Formats: sequence, structure tokens, C-alpha cells
Amino acid sequence: MKTETTLQGLHAALGAARAARKSIGFVPTMGNLHDGHLRLVQEARNRCDIVVVSIFVNPTQFGQGEDFEHYPRTLEADSKLLFDADCDILFAPSVQQMYGDGAQQTTVQVDSIAADLCGRSRAGHFTGVATVVTKLFNIVQPNVAFFGEKDYQQLAVIRHLTRDLCFPIDIIGVPTVRAVDGLALSSRNGYLSVEQRDAATTIYQTLQTVATQLKQGALDYAALCAQAAAQLTGAGFMVDYVEIRTPLLGLPDAQSTEWVILIAAKLGKTRLIDNLSVSLD
Ligand code: PAJ
Repeated sequence: MKTETTLQGLHAALGAARAARKSIGFVPTMGNLHDGHLRLVQEARNRCDIVVVSIFVNPTQFGQGEDFEHYPRTLEADSKLLFDADCDILFAPSVQQMYGDGAQQTTVQVDSIAADLCGRSRAGHFTGVATVVTKLFNIVQPNVAFFGEKDYQQLAVIRHLTRDLCFPIDIIGVPTVRAVDGLALSSRNGYLSVEQRDAATTIYQTLQTVATQLKQGALDYAALCAQAAAQLTGAGFMVDYVEIRTPLLGLPDAQSTEWVILIAAKLGKTRLIDNLSVSLD
């Protein structure tokens, strides 16, 4: 595995692969890797000739008062995990490499979808994500890129920008990897105290409760969401939202047979998100 920290280094490392027309699979991450990230790498390994993983804690997707400074940076351990996962190239640029010295003038804004759900409480977050992913797509020029369904709205934003900006890249969504008690793996789970970690499992339990009710024919979406929010509040969460949407994140109606249940809630200072897709078929 090669580790590259500059754009020039990465271009040189990928030059031969491109000349030989090898397929390039790309997994963008912010590091502090866990089995969720590694599932994406595995998927890239299975489908592509060359696997590139980026580790970049992107400042522009963190809001004021969020955890950019404290976000776990564990490059050495991550590098070992990627070596074991048979990654070919680790791209770990500095903020200076990615954004230069001056203020960046250009941003990528995905309308409407980015202002919804997490975008309501994290103004500018998805513009930061869309901008850095666009830059990374231009730098790496992959054939296929892999994103987790865990970040359902992010995946939707990436699919939109890929289509809207005509990137010739296949976007693959990878199912969420969970701990045995159902909690979705996340770098932010490390912020939780032992008690909070116990309580955190309520998110998945709540998703399952709502899923069961939808399958049994309950259609009062507002009531289901209110009940779910109460379940989370009872476990000590500050609920940001519980929403039932269509798979494309529209509003469901009485004829809907496919849904995604989305939750964002805080335990103390730690904001957790999760979702579950449900279908009547
Ligand atoms: P990060 O949170 O590090 O996640 C990197 C990728 O791993 C994302 O596609 C995310 O959805 C996926 N992922 C995280 N937890 C997962 C889990 N439990 N199961 C499956 N996949 C999981 O998401 C980001 O970084 C950033 O916003 C990024 C896209 C890199 C842009 O900066």
C-alpha cells in the first residue's frame, strides 16, 4: 500500500493504473476507521482493480461549536487497518493541500435535499460535504465510489451531485454495519460514556418498533414519529428529528409501500444518526 499526502503524489501513483485502463474504486472517509468503513473498502476490493481510500477530516462540513477540533485522528492505526484490508493507495492530504492558503471561492451546493433533515440543524454541512467530495472526485477520478447507507441523506446528496455535475462515476451504497446490539458503527460512538453507550441502542430499537408498525399497516406517520420520539426522549436523548420518508426522501402517503425511517438525536453532546429501510414486499 502506498500512502500519498499530495495531489501530485496521488496523480503519479495512479498514472500507471490509468494508462493500463484499470478500474479505480474510491472510498472517501474522515478516518478513525471501523468495520463500517472497512465494509466499503471490502466492497471496493471486490469490484475494482485499484482501491483508493482517502482520510481527510474536512473542516468545511463542521459547523461552529461542532467537533472538528476533537474529531478522532488515528492515522497510524487506520493505515494498518487499510494495509490489512488490501487497500492500494491511502490518500491523506493536509487541509492546505485540499483548500490552499486562501479562502476557497467555489462551493458545491445541492439544493432542497441538503436543506432538509440534518441540513435543518447543520446549516452548510452538506455544502461542505458536496464540495469536498467533488474535489476528491476530481483529484482521484475514480470509476466507482462507495458510500455508506448509514448516512442516508449524504448518499442522496452525493447521488444528486454526481448526476447533476455529470461525473462518470458509479455510486454504490453499502448497507450499514452494526454492533451486536444494533447500534450503527460510527466514529462518534467513541465519545459516549458507558451509560450513554447502553442508552444508544434505543435508536435501533426505536427504528425496529416503527418498522414493525409500518409493516402491520399503521399509516399515521405523525403519530408513529411522535411515539418514536417519546421512546428516545425516555432513554435520555434530545431528539433532533424522527421522520418517515419515501426511499427518495419525499413525503409518503397512504399508498406508499416503501419507506425509510430516519433518526437524528443527541446523547449529551454527541449527535447520532441512523435509519432503516422498510418495504411491504
Ligand atoms: P465518515 O463519517 O468517515 O464516513 C465515511 C464513509 O463510511 C461514509 O460513506 C459513511 O456513510 C460510511 N460509514 C460510516 N459508518 C458506517 C457504518 N456503520 N456502516 C457502513 N458505512 C458506514 O461520511 C464521511 O466520513 C464524510 O462526510 C465524507 C463523505 C468522507 C466527506 O468528508
